[in-house]
Amino acid sequence: MHTAMSQSPPKFYLTTPIYYVNARPHIGHAYTTIVADVIARRSRAQGVDTWFLTGTDEHGQKIERSALAAGVPPQQFTDQVSETFREPWRRMGITNDDFIRTTEPRHKQGVQKLFLAIKEAGYIDLQTYTGAYCVSDETFVDVEPGSPCPECGNITEVLSESNFYFKLSAFQDKVLALIESNELLIEPDTLRNEVLSFVRGGLKDLSISRTSIKWGIPVPGHPDHVIYVWLDALANYMTAVGYGSDAPEDLEKFNRYWPADLHLIGKEIARFHCIYWPAFLLAAGEKLPKKIAANGWLLFHDSKMSKSKGNVVRIETILDAFGTLCPATPLLSPSPQVSSFAKGGGPASSLLSSRSEAKGSAVAFGISVGLQPHELATENEGALAPAPPTKAQQDLFASDVLRYFLLREVPYGQDGNFSLEAMVTRYNADLVNGYGNLVSRTLTLASTQFHSDTVCPAEPWACQEFEANPEDEKTSVVEMQSGTASVIAEICNLANVDFDFYMRQTEFHLALTEIYSRISVVDGYLSWHKPWKLAKSTDGPDRKKLIEILYTAAESIRIITALLYPILPYATASVWRQLGLGDIEEAARTGQLKDLQWGGLKPGTRLGPLAPIFPRADKGLTAIMMQMEQDQNTPISHANAAHDAATSTLSEFPEMSLASATVPHEQSVVPSVESVVSTSPSDASPQITIDDFAKIELRVAQILVAERIPKADKLLRLEVDLGYEKRQILSGIAEWYTPEELVGRRIVVITNLAPRKMRGLESHGMLLAASTEGGKPHLATFADSAQLPLGSRLK
Ligand code: MSP
Repeated sequence: MHTAMSQSPPKFYLTTPIYYVNARPHIGHAYTTIVADVIARRSRAQGVDTWFLTGTDEHGQKIERSALAAGVPPQQFTDQVSETFREPWRRMGITNDDFIRTTEPRHKQGVQKLFLAIKEAGYIDLQTYTGAYCVSDETFVDVEPGSPCPECGNITEVLSESNFYFKLSAFQDKVLALIESNELLIEPDTLRNEVLSFVRGGLKDLSISRTSIKWGIPVPGHPDHVIYVWLDALANYMTAVGYGSDAPEDLEKFNRYWPADLHLIGKEIARFHCIYWPAFLLAAGEKLPKKIAANGWLLFHDSKMSKSKGNVVRIETILDAFGTLCPATPLLSPSPQVSSFAKGGGPASSLLSSRSEAKGSAVAFGISVGLQPHELATENEGALAPAPPTKAQQDLFASDVLRYFLLREVPYGQDGNFSLEAMVTRYNADLVNGYGNLVSRTLTLASTQFHSDTVCPAEPWACQEFEANPEDEKTSVVEMQSGTASVIAEICNLANVDFDFYMRQTEFHLALTEIYSRISVVDGYLSWHKPWKLAKSTDGPDRKKLIEILYTAAESIRIITALLYPILPYATASVWRQLGLGDIEEAARTGQLKDLQWGGLKPGTRLGPLAPIFPRADKGLTAIMMQMEQDQNTPISHANAAHDAATSTLSEFPEMSLASATVPHEQSVVPSVESVVSTSPSDASPQITIDDFAKIELRVAQILVAERIPKADKLLRLEVDLGYEKRQILSGIAEWYTPEELVGRRIVVITNLAPRKMRGLESHGMLLAASTEGGKPHLATFADSAQLPLGSRLK
């Protein structure tokens, strides 16, 4: 048995806190879970046997009272709220290998075993204690009963109990030595120091049973006592991998995965994890976790996002709103096969792999498979028109945006302000203009250049140097050097090393900064060499240059994409397919995303069907999300009772007993968003509420510029002034209005309509006009418009 174990591949066991089920999850919970998922995906892609655990914490007075307030038995209550945690993780494609609930039998038996192990070792005895108890933190605190808890500020209660006590004081020196020697690593350093000074201040024995509470795990042999909720909760990390079971497969699992390699937590629960947990384990003679890393708090409106403050941003809001931007994915297989992800079975992998059986499109990278025009037709036969994204795809797309934003914006370990506006801005700046733009400009040019090419030079992707353009005087020598293909190759090889370094340190924002500096370099390289200017030559040195430039950019994209995979699993899957490399999940499983070296993109690789990656987000998206957050407090348009069921305070579970508590999310707030971005009003209009109407943003604008668009008889290009910004709008009124008669007019514009492209130009908004079928559209205007400031909203 031992020999076999020593030969097995490395393992990595990581956990999130198990979340209390007295409230629905918000993006604070999502933050820790996302970090765990990123680390788990990366670890698997490195070939490490990874076990990723999350779950829900379901016992204790807090939960008991929430259930009481909701008017349902605690078990039913926790069943329902626990599901509200599983659901967003599913929607987001979180690849947890297990989900533990503390009300499960496997957990209960493990907790009782741990209690007995500590007791038998002589570290638990029965004592009577009277003191101040904080219900919110589930702990006795050292203040006068009735005064505020020093941790959370809630008023404490007096509690007198005959309790089992754990001799925590006996472990003071051992815990101190463990942390000081870094045998138990605690990150960040600031937190490690806080923990150290707490331990140095002296550890008092800890009450670890309650007689006042019924909702918990009974102390073995003392059915009137339930086990302290933190001992119960912390034990999940062991019970989930088999502790407490005698079944051979559970014993094997426990031996394989315990101890945990990484407990991810929020900083406010450091004391329980860094002091109590190691002490319990030492007392029971079990191995200790290797590392505890804490994230700081997501702040919203400058205070910790939390249900009790009511300042949370719901995960659903982000998924529903950003999901509307999800581009269609071209399908190649008429009946996609759904396969499942290794152990996690997350939805991301199955959806993505269903799209990944691309035979390769008509587009060829390089010459070895250069296609004749007739071959194009054959190759395209299997292709279907792009299918609109499914709701599941929209969720995964939006989840990528949230993952990216949280990791890039908030240095891990520190507090960070969350803002919906910043999220939209960062999305446009980094994902649309950065990564997405680099991919599309490169692959679009490659696809137009190589698709019908039959006469290319022999070794298209060889990295041959060529001179940078010496005519451009503004270019410095450094820029000229960094513009060569071999320099780009070196930079990308180094990206691998630097990125890995920061990812290991959980410095995600720095890892992403590294990636972004590479994206800029490759962008600069393209702008400098202007491959589109070489595009007309079909042979000779220019052709060679063109191929080299495009290969260099595409190969950089391959490396960048492989590195970004754990953070953007959905978007990178799309890019990977477009590069002609197939299923990225398969690539992750087979080690193609690790030890990346320049040159992995093989000459002759055929591009997959191209598709947009990150469509631009309208600024109006922020307003939509804010509105959605406001709306969640009103019953209108909310079919999802489960969504309302578990908000902040104890009295907020009125619908818990309703059968509709599990209405799927597809029926929730989504339609209200889509109604805003829809461009096709129907004649048989359904009735809408005043709230629906309020979502359509109509504003006063003035036409500054109007001009015809070459070869587009019906379209005019307008520039309108909204007072707070200027916009371009394309309007199909050219048959009825001359540009001259429009300039200066004040009109009404729908401003929160999603932008769309026509004739290669972006149109951002729509004019309001009335017309009879086929007749002249009469622009809506005002008799006294001069008195209205531009941008005034129509209500
Ligand atoms: N049930 C305990 C943990 C037991 S672990 C053995 C608990 N649950 S909780 O529901 O309150 O979740 C706490 C965790 O959620 C935090 O430790 C943190 O990981 C995450 N977060 C909740 N709100 C958060 C923010 N506003 N910001 C960052 N993380 C947040 O404590």
